[in-house]
Parts: sequence; C-alpha cells; structure tokens
Amino acid sequence: MTEQRRLFRVFATCNIGYEAFDVLKKRGYEVEVYPEPEPPAKSWIVVKVRSGIDALITTLRDRIDGEVFEAGRGSLKVVAQYAVGFDNIDRAAANRYRIPFTNTADVLTEATAEFALFILGNVARKLCPSERLVRDNRWGIWHPFLPFLGDEVTGKTIAVIGMGRIGQAFIKKAMALDVDFLCYNGGVEDHEYTRKIQEAMDVRFRNGFTPERRTIGYVSFEAALRGADFVSVHVPLVREGEGRNPTYHLFNEKTLRWMKPTAFLVNTARGAVVDEKALVDALREGVIAGAALDVYEREPLPADSPLRDPKLENRVRLFSHFASAGRLTRLSTNPNQGMAGRCVQGVIDVLEGRYGGGPANMPYVVNKEAFTSSA
Ligand code: NAP
Ligand code: GLV
Repeated sequence: MTEQRRLFRVFATCNIGYEAFDVLKKRGYEVEVYPEPEPPAKSWIVVKVRSGIDALITTLRDRIDGEVFEAGRGSLKVVAQYAVGFDNIDRAAANRYRIPFTNTADVLTEATAEFALFILGNVARKLCPSERLVRDNRWGIWHPFLPFLGDEVTGKTIAVIGMGRIGQAFIKKAMALDVDFLCYNGGVEDHEYTRKIQEAMDVRFRNGFTPERRTIGYVSFEAALRGADFVSVHVPLVREGEGRNPTYHLFNEKTLRWMKPTAFLVNTARGAVVDEKALVDALREGVIAGAALDVYEREPLPADSPLRDPKLENRVRLFSHFASAGRLTRLSTNPNQGMAGRCVQGVIDVLEGRYGGGPANMPYVVNKEAFTSSA
C-alpha cells in the first residue's frame, strides 16, 4: 500500500477470482468475499452494506434495491456488477441515493455472441439428441432419415432481436453461414452497421463464396418473427415502468404465434423476456419447432419446470446461464478482456476518483444520469 492511498473496504457477494481481488488488495483495499458459492441472502448484503463498506461487488443473482442503497447511505460509494445485464439493480433507487453502479459490458460480447450461434446450431442440427443416441447405445443403424433429421442453418433467415453489442457481434459471426438477417431494435437503428455487413456479404457473393446474394435490413418486430427460420434474442430485461421500451414477456402467446411452425427461438438474453408458460405451450402445440435457452424466468431452472418435459427433449436445448462462461472472459484481470478485470477497475475508478473524479465521466458507470448537471 502506498502511503497516500486510503484503505477502502470492499464486500463481494461472490468470488470473482482471487487474482482480481489481489488487484484490489495490492492497492491496500480490504476485501471480504461471501464464502459460499450460493448467493447470500439479501439481509446479509444489507448488514454488510450497513457496516460501512465503500464498495459492493455484485452478480446478477443479487437483488440490489432501495433497501440496500438506504443501508449504504453516506458510506457506500459504488456497486460493481459482475455482468453486463443489471436488471437486478434498481436504477431509480441508485439514482435517488446518487450511488454509481458499474457493469462489465464489452468484455463478454464476443463470448456471448458465439455461444448464441453455437446453441442455435446445436438445436437446429440436433447435436445433443445425436450424442444421446450414441451414449445410450441406441445407435443401431446408419439410415438416410431415421431416427431423426436436423435442419440446416446455411441459407436460412435469422431474426436478431436487439441490435446492441451482442446482437451486432452475433451477426458478424453468423454471416459466415450465408444467411439473411432481419433486424429489430426497440430504440435507435444503426444503419451504418447493417450497411457495412451488407458490404461484407456482397464481397462474399462477388467472390463466389456463396451462390446467392444475402441481405440484411431493419424490419418491424412482427415482420422479423414472421420471416425468420431462427430468432436470436439480445435485448436487456426491462420491466414495465423501468424504461421506454419494456421487454418483459416480449415473446408471449400472441407474438410466438407470429413465428413459423418450422422456426427456432434462441434466448441468451434474460429469461423473463420470454413468457415461459406461453413458450412451453407453443412448443407442445407445434406453434414453433424448437428452442435453445440459456436463461429462464427462475434460475436455476426448477426441477418441475415443464421445459424439462422429456417429450420436448429433442427440440429444446437447456443451458445453465453459461453464455459468457469462457475462461478469459470470466477471469481475466485485464479490464479490456475479462469481467473480473473490468469489475474491479470499476471499483477503483470510483473509489479513487479517476476520470476527473466524476462518476459521469467514468467509462464503466451505468447510471451516469444521476451525476450530470441536469439530474
Ligand atoms: P446492449 O448493447 O445494451 O444491447 C441491447 C440492445 O437491445 C440495444 O440495442 C437496445 O436498443 C435494444 N433494445 C432495448 N429494448 C428493446 C426492445 N424493447 N426491443 C428491441 N430492442 C430493444 O446490451 P448487450 O451488451 O448486447 O447485452 C444484451 C443483454 O444480453 C444484456 O442486457 C443481458 O441481459 C444479456 N446477456 C446475457 C448473457 C448470458 O450469460 N446469457 C451474457 C451477456 C449478456 P437501444 O440501446 O436503442 O435502447
Ligand atoms: C450475463 O447474463 C450478463 O448479463 O452479463
């Protein structure tokens, strides 16, 4: 610890990697980590915050609401979320108490986008059912179409719902499969990005890498769902009253029916963007062909979830909120590479008053509006 540095107290609700905590400790910070792999009860977090910690490191499993911010009144200086999504944090309450919170955008974009593409391919080509045949020793014959076939992705149409960091990165990777894209974004449409992708797709066509010219463009939500063979979801979870464009149950009984009966839904965003009951009904009734899910309305997925219905198994892939779970993405202490690095850098920025000392200038602070002059 250098002499001029003040000792800061940090509590982490989860172990985000020893090396990341060492970054803080080397700067003289006192770091306490919740010792269990399960998340602490909210009451535990409140007690810790009330004890006067300067920074709270959270994950998407922790509910950080007005009670937590109230407990930190006068002492808590930053909440550093180890995730890009922050639907577990009450932004309005953070703003009321003028407590900045940070997230780990960017560093998990590529890992999450590639995962979305991989699980899309997985459910389409029935990779898990095929492996299951072999493992269960039920692979009796090689046959042109028995016991089942998958669906190719090449040459199909993919709808990308949510054209932010991950949606755009997904397109950049999926274009190698010579697909058409139907894009939908609730807010601003980035036509410069789609123009560049079109340009790249045209180069592939002109050079003979794909027999047909492929296209990309923005359409309405309904047109995207009606036209797509695959729908990949990349929106944040925004509940009613939390923003101009709520996404809670964006996929519901009505909108799922806009999809083709041969289409697949891929959700790596947040579970509650999809009405799970409506999804199960749609799968059982053949309204859509299948789904690949990484996120659920309740996590971990309850034992009695109808998504586990063995009758749906060949058409439904279930993953464990795993999309960003690449080694470097999760653990690297480089703030430009890993969630751990970016998370602790967010803590350091705020506690040490970097970027002119104002949270509104700090790159990883999400609720900058609380610190602008008009706030
Ligand atoms: P982002 O850059 O903020 O992109 C989200 C995009 O969705 C933005 O372009 C936004 O548009 C758009 N959007 C917002 N509301 C919409 C609506 N109602 N309809 C259509 N589009 C809407 O965020 P990101 O970094 O790509 O991450 C997206 C989400 O993925 C995160 O919030 C998180 O929940 C999830 N995620 C999950 C995992 C996982 O492990 N499964 C990993 C990483 C991220 P505007 O900006 O114009 O509002
Ligand atoms: C993961 O779900 C994240 O939001 O980072």
